[in-house]
Amino acid sequence: MEPHDPPRMKTVHIKSFGCQMNVYDGQRMADILGQQGYEETATPEGADLVLLNTCHIRDRAVQKVYTELGKLRDLKVAQLANGQHTKIIVAGCVAQAEGAEIQRRQPAVDLVVGPQAYHRLPELLEQAKSRRTVDTDLPAEDKFGHLPAPTPKAIRARGISAFVTVQEGCDKFCAFCVVPYTRGAEFSRPVAQVLAEVARLAASGVQDVTLIGQNVNAYHGEGEGGVRGLARLLYAVADIPGIARIRYTTSHPRDMGDDLIAAHRDLPQLMPFLHLPVQAGSDRILAAMNRRHTADEYRRLIDRIRAARPDIALSSDFIVGFPGESDAEFEDTIRLVDEIGFASSYSFKYSPRPGTPAADLVEQVAPELMNERLYRLQARIEHHRQAFNHAMVGRTVEVLLERVGRHARQLAGKTPWLQAVQIETETNQIGDRVQVLIERAGSNSLFGRLASPVPGSGRDIAA
Ligand code: SAH
Ligand code: SF4
Ligand code: F3S
Repeated sequence: MEPHDPPRMKTVHIKSFGCQMNVYDGQRMADILGQQGYEETATPEGADLVLLNTCHIRDRAVQKVYTELGKLRDLKVAQLANGQHTKIIVAGCVAQAEGAEIQRRQPAVDLVVGPQAYHRLPELLEQAKSRRTVDTDLPAEDKFGHLPAPTPKAIRARGISAFVTVQEGCDKFCAFCVVPYTRGAEFSRPVAQVLAEVARLAASGVQDVTLIGQNVNAYHGEGEGGVRGLARLLYAVADIPGIARIRYTTSHPRDMGDDLIAAHRDLPQLMPFLHLPVQAGSDRILAAMNRRHTADEYRRLIDRIRAARPDIALSSDFIVGFPGESDAEFEDTIRLVDEIGFASSYSFKYSPRPGTPAADLVEQVAPELMNERLYRLQARIEHHRQAFNHAMVGRTVEVLLERVGRHARQLAGKTPWLQAVQIETETNQIGDRVQVLIERAGSNSLFGRLASPVPGSGRDIAA
């Protein structure tokens, strides 16, 4: 190398699968590696480090990881022929669940690091230079206390909407679910730490935050004068200058306290959209799932939330074909979907997961029957989603512009109800909150035009 050549920047490619917490963790790992001199790249080709941030929730998610690892092994071999030593890192929930088994199945993997150990990435990478390394310790210490803050440049590059983990892990132990094993016991970050992180994001232009946790409404963080619940945290986040929109996800029906419902009535920044998974509509199946609430308790809860915030839209997750689910029990799910009228929902075929109580149940539902049920459920969910979106046509709603649109002069943003909207505008920029008259509902986006073409007219919080 010539003496005046700048040193070649080291690069890392990060690919996250699974839930929003993995997106957040992926960013935090990018921040840590950024401090070590690694720049993020959009593709694995040529990268010094390739990091797969994995999901273990269903069998398909895990298969995807091994398929991806096979491709990365080929890339690693090809790059070695060019003298480049690519390192492959597996992080996330498959790392936690399978540990050293991953390197047995795919020896090209250099480092396996679990979701509660990634703050140690710099030391682990050092170790991985000489030997294959695995770290899947569940928290002995607080990971969050060791993470570097993102730089203003990194925050701006990620856009005006951000996720902030406030709670991690789960103590609910639904019979089908691996999360309590892959993420460990419930842990809440202290109030001051969360507020400092949101304030830092806001100072670099973030306007829209989603507080995330596997069981976010079980949040109970140390605050001034004692432990604080999610409701109190939301009020404090709403006081941070620049934060215009707040959401939180994912919640459990058992933890929707009165104070949290009241926050939906009182806080204009708290968006009228709530993801509140119910999973199934039959009480027998809900009990077998260890959800610890009935379908009617869920219905009454929704009534109370709607009473507090009449325009709130709801979404849910559903599992079809839980062991022993009869036709009649499946019909209970369809009935619940039709009664509540969810604005959107995710639905999955039950996937038996190693180590979970439901995996030992013998009465598995036949695959064809599961397919049939999923198809029917998804058709109902889609019907309600379309109805919800079409009901917006003719209304004027606030849209936060988040990115460039599909065509020139188009900007794309979201309504308070998390719907994507495309508008044509030459006077606005990303970050503006504008009033938009919705003219048309496509299958995945709404289309509209500015109702008030004054640039930045939506900047003040609407009362
Ligand atoms: N903490 C969240 C999300 C958990 S995972 C919650 O409590 O809702 C996201 C969704 O995946 C779950 O809501 C559930 O619908 C689905 N899921 C979890 N385990 C599953 C399994 N074994 N098979 C099929 N779907 C599953
Ligand atoms: Fe899994 Fe249930 Fe915990 Fe959600 S509440 S993460 S579904 S165990
Ligand atoms: Fe998947 Fe882990 Fe999230 S299993 S859904 S990445 S908590």
